[in-house]
Amino acid sequence: MNKKVLMQRRLVAMQNHTFAVDTFKILRTKILKQLKLNNWNSFGITSPTKNAGKTMISVNLALVMAMEFNQTILLVDMDLRKPKIGWYFDINITAGLKDCIVSDKPLSEILIKPDIDRLFILPGKGQVSNSSEMITSPKMHHLVNEFKNYYQPQITIFNLPAVLDSDDVLASMDYYDAMLLIIEEGGNKPDEVKDSLKMLADINLLGTVLNKSENLPSHQNY
Ligand SMILES: Nc1ncnc2c1ncn2[C@@H]1O[C@H](COP(=O)(O)OP(=O)(O)O)[C@@H](O)[C@H]1O
Ligand SMILES: [Mg+2]
Repeated sequence: MNKKVLMQRRLVAMQNHTFAVDTFKILRTKILKQLKLNNWNSFGITSPTKNAGKTMISVNLALVMAMEFNQTILLVDMDLRKPKIGWYFDINITAGLKDCIVSDKPLSEILIKPDIDRLFILPGKGQVSNSSEMITSPKMHHLVNEFKNYYQPQITIFNLPAVLDSDDVLASMDYYDAMLLIIEEGGNKPDEVKDSLKMLADINLLGTVLNKSENLPSHQNY
């Protein structure tokens, strides 16, 4: 992994004491508190529409969560249409979740252990057209049980597609305890946020993140 490339791709959690890292740490601690309080150990990350920054936030959150000791994090790329976690880490992915379903590849062959303590990644590769059917398939249920039981991560983070773009998010809700909704400032209209919240009415909402905001909080002096 080339640190300069990772920075360009906004994998900012590897820096020390910058505004960006501290922001992710605040988000981390808020989420961890809620997970602990409710005895939850997994959550999904979605947004109303694509390009809101779900994957950027998934990878950075996974990184800052893995920084806490005694806590293993499993980051799962369940955006079967546009998996991108490998790109953020600058890792060449040769096989992903789809291959476990379609060609019975063992999980151990797709699992990635990046050079970061306590972080494991189950990546995606290629594009799946029948993604929601794949998500609800008995094989996927079996696979999710298998990776949760076998790797026993303290926290599993599911990087998901956009909630208004397909039924993939609705189809995947059995797999995690709660949801984080990423909203793109300037990109998401109020109605899209409302519709997304309606779609997510049956799941525990951890909260929302306003991403790509032009306005930094006033206590930040740059
Ligand atoms: N806070 C941000 N500021 C500027 N660019 C961002 C920000 N968050 C994400 N991006 C960029 O927006 C694009 C989409 O981000 P991505 O995480 O892939 O979105 P999604 O997974 O929601 O489709 C990427 O090029 C990413 O680098
Ligand atoms: Mg994405």
